[in-house]
Amino acid sequence: MVTKDMFGEPSDPPASAADRVAALRDELHKHAHSYYVLDEPTVPDAEYDRLFQELQALEAQHPELASPDSPTRRVGGKPLSQFASVRHAVPMLSIRTETDTEASGAQNFDTRVRKELGLAESEPPVEYVAELKFDGLAINLRYEDGVLVQAATRGDGEVGEDVTQNIRTIRQIPLRIAAPTLIASRTSLPPGGAELARGGPSRRSPSDISVPPVLEVRGEVYMRRDDFESLNEKQREKIAQGAKGEKTFVNPRNAAAGAVRQLDPAIAARRPLSFFAYGLGEVTPKEQGGPDFESHFQMLLTLKSWGFPVAALTQTAQGASELIAFHQKIGKERDQLPYDIDGVVYKVNSLALQKKLGFVTREPRWAVAHKYPAQEQMTTVLAIDVQVGRTGKLTPVAKLAPVFVGGVTVTNATLHNEDEARRKDVRIGDTVVVRRAGDVIPEVVSVLAEKRVRDAPQFTMPHTCPVCGSDAVREEGEADYRCTGGLFCGAQRKEAILHYAHRRAVEIEGLGDKLVEQLVDANVIRTLPDLYRLGLTALAGLDRMADKSANNLLEALERSKSTTLPRFLFGLGIRHVGEATAKELARHFGKLDAVMDATEEQLLEVSDVGPIVAKSIRTFFDQPHNREVVEQLRACGVHWTEGEPAARAPRPLSGKTFVITGTLPTLSRDQAKDMVEAAGGKVAGSVSKKTDYVVAGTEAGSKLTKAQELGVAVIDEAALLVMLAAPAA
Ligand code: IVH
Repeated sequence: MVTKDMFGEPSDPPASAADRVAALRDELHKHAHSYYVLDEPTVPDAEYDRLFQELQALEAQHPELASPDSPTRRVGGKPLSQFASVRHAVPMLSIRTETDTEASGAQNFDTRVRKELGLAESEPPVEYVAELKFDGLAINLRYEDGVLVQAATRGDGEVGEDVTQNIRTIRQIPLRIAAPTLIASRTSLPPGGAELARGGPSRRSPSDISVPPVLEVRGEVYMRRDDFESLNEKQREKIAQGAKGEKTFVNPRNAAAGAVRQLDPAIAARRPLSFFAYGLGEVTPKEQGGPDFESHFQMLLTLKSWGFPVAALTQTAQGASELIAFHQKIGKERDQLPYDIDGVVYKVNSLALQKKLGFVTREPRWAVAHKYPAQEQMTTVLAIDVQVGRTGKLTPVAKLAPVFVGGVTVTNATLHNEDEARRKDVRIGDTVVVRRAGDVIPEVVSVLAEKRVRDAPQFTMPHTCPVCGSDAVREEGEADYRCTGGLFCGAQRKEAILHYAHRRAVEIEGLGDKLVEQLVDANVIRTLPDLYRLGLTALAGLDRMADKSANNLLEALERSKSTTLPRFLFGLGIRHVGEATAKELARHFGKLDAVMDATEEQLLEVSDVGPIVAKSIRTFFDQPHNREVVEQLRACGVHWTEGEPAARAPRPLSGKTFVITGTLPTLSRDQAKDMVEAAGGKVAGSVSKKTDYVVAGTEAGSKLTKAQELGVAVIDEAALLVMLAAPAA
């Protein structure tokens, strides 16, 4: 509304409004550039939308402040200069957004449509198509004579970027439109509207419609949540291993946009992308033999029959009430969907009515987007805690000022691990963007560095377990710190007991998941020795514990006291010590005390034990709490027959130094290294006169040359395997 003075004349806008408009435009331009051009969003969408709507409202109130370069006049951002520009034959429009409460979003739309069409209240409901609003990026696919000739981003709606190479890597997108597959035709509407999954209504079977010479299909390129999670997991591993220039992605949309706008199509091809079709661009007109669709839904069914993915949840809906029902239904299912959506889209189904309704500026009157609560929001970090998981993994977690995101109130968000926390540089007091989508744990995706108010110190990972105080260690090449107090740590109690009681470990029959849960939660058991202090009275107090089962458990506990050293060692749950290693340790050392007191060097003499395993065993027994638990178990009567240490057989590669280079035919370099070390050999990183053998695979480079220069013996994998199998010289 235009402000009017007391005489009804428009007045000058207050200076503050003009200032605010200028500031908003400036800020929105910056965010849009970061988002569309740099693929590095600076604020969550919801925040951008708020600013955008504030600007829209101010411009509506003060038309005299209108300006052709306002972000409200644009659909998106500028294309990157590296890609060729594509002028869209038909502009790629945006849709009006309803962010109102559930019912009114659909209701307002229906009311506007009916009014524009001049429909009286007594007339039947308007038929709509209800779709999902996919959170990816819009793409125009151009087919000529059924062949994909060009794919372009939306860009600013008029001009986009030619990303054909990258789009071709998406398997879901047909490169050539196949012969139409048959879809059963339907002549009447099933009750409650037609779903695409069921085939839906159509007067003419879509399979009758042939592919026109020019066909532009529009839709959304997106990344599934599981694909996104595994992509980021891979990225985190690469970062942990020291890869330079790698980063994790903020959200699936960002990852998808980055892949589509990746200049190297080979990289794009490795990013798992998906596609849904939802509309058309330029199409051969019906006068020239093009298709004569009557409805949007019929068009979608036809696209489906031509091999384009169309979301199965798409359906027709009669009037506002069915749109509201759709909004509610999808709202409930949203978390379980395999991909992100930020709302639903309603479209008038009849193409004749769409034409009649037309457009307002850049938005069709026949479509609207009805949003859901945003999956990303801003909040502040109150503290950074470190949580310990059941298996001893330490995870830094940001404690947040409560924020409503993705439909729930979130107060904790994961920072994943030390590298991630460092890379994002999250600090107490920071304003951060939090994402919660689906059943995935909420995470801090980025920090708004410019909003940092005080200079809080950088986060550092503790080197002791916050739950039990044992050493926390991070092994080489691993992303996580782990608590080494497995037997004592409160966080790992349940896991430790279950592992100890396992059939292949000390074996306590009948002590399963549920019972351990109960015993620990009721505080009846804190550490392993407590198991042997259990009595009938304590057990009888538990839910669903009959006398008989209590007696059975006590008997099983009694039986478990008589065990073997390998079982006991395995049962301790030392990281990297599996059944086979436990057996080797027992065979080599004969006695438990000898294992507990062995140095890393001595442990390395055990076949099967490499440096990582040796270190892990040493660290475990260096924790006083772990030793105490072992002593108590022995005091409770757990026993086995101890043996004599095995005669120290010299190992085949003792005293020899190896360098491994190139790609070996069957072993990875790490595997070869572990095998050489387990056989008593050393593995060095570079070739010198001290090197005894260079094991060379394909594409061995400078190390091989160096070996030849120095006259060092060069062998292949097969020769190495022979040496490993040979008895020691
Ligand atoms: S229709 C003229 N349908 O939302 C109508 N758009 O502002 C043009 N989007 O960037 C769009 N799902 O990428 C339409 N089912 C859907 C959609 C959808 C997601 C995106 C689209 C565009 C934005 C519309």
